[in-house]
Amino acid sequence: MIERAGHAIRQGELVIFPTETVYGIGAAAHNPSAVAKLYAAKNRPQFNPLIVHCASEDAAFSLVKITKLAQQLADAFWPGPMSIVLTSIKNSPICSLARAGLDSVALRVPANPVCQELLLCAGTPVVAPSANPSGRLSPTDVAHIDIELIAKCAEIIDAGKCKAGIESTIIDARNKIPVILRPGPITNSQIEDHLGTKCVYASSVPTHTSIAPIAPGQLASHYAPIAPLRMNASRKQDGEIFIGFNTPYADFHLTKTGNLEEAAAHLFDVLHLADKQNPLAIAVAPIPNIGVGEAINERLKRAAAPRN
Ligand code: TXA
Ligand code: MG
Repeated sequence: MIERAGHAIRQGELVIFPTETVYGIGAAAHNPSAVAKLYAAKNRPQFNPLIVHCASEDAAFSLVKITKLAQQLADAFWPGPMSIVLTSIKNSPICSLARAGLDSVALRVPANPVCQELLLCAGTPVVAPSANPSGRLSPTDVAHIDIELIAKCAEIIDAGKCKAGIESTIIDARNKIPVILRPGPITNSQIEDHLGTKCVYASSVPTHTSIAPIAPGQLASHYAPIAPLRMNASRKQDGEIFIGFNTPYADFHLTKTGNLEEAAAHLFDVLHLADKQNPLAIAVAPIPNIGVGEAINERLKRAAAPRN
């Protein structure tokens, strides 16, 4: 199965596969027609660059200009749910379409063993956005994946639910200070504890705000369910589905104990389930904005944003 999927990627086909964060839809990163097929399948704007997934740190770092910061981050958090943005080498094997024409590239070395094996079988770096139509909820289970998207793929590998449940933390590591482009399972305090340096957010760095949209954050409505979403809800209103966080009564619970990692792992599953019931709106209880709670709130904010 995994071998067949690796072969399909080499042949320029699309494959859906698990990672420790969310399910991805992958294509060979060096093949512009495969990458074009991937953008088209997701209906993703071609100005939104893709993350390049590699089997090892060495394979990833052979594609970029390495910095001391990137080396420190990779040593601590790879393989794992972290992507780092670095300056691409000239004549990179990664096609320019995959990078949306930027001179930088986002790299990730995933830890999920099925994903690791697939990358080894494919024998090439694989670009993989989340396996959902652009702007919709990410899938953390094969049951969440859009049937029309599946139909556009040669293979789909089912390995059950994804462990972390939200997309990788994206860090710009081109300079000395880590710039968080997207919060994720690796939290700011984990990064700061390891480096002994404060992280900054992309929104507070002028050079980053001027070259939007290079991070998912710049596309206001993202990860959206079909139903409108209301955050920080203390109770359910008529016609709403209520998603609880450490709340005694709820239609669905992110966690009954206030465990943020558990809430992150359940987030997209619960949003998919709530949305399936066709409610007037989805109301979500307040989530503490600490640790991985920051990433959860960022995803919810985007899901609650006015639709394009
Ligand atoms: O956990 C994940 O990262 C998942 C799994 C499948 O690996 N992938 C994922 O991909 O979330 P996607 O395409 O949904 O989100 C990747 C984001 C894009 O929105 C893009 O803005 C950002 O990464 N990105 C990619 N290349 C970049 C670059 N050179 N500079 C800044 N941001 C970049
Ligand atoms: Mg996505």
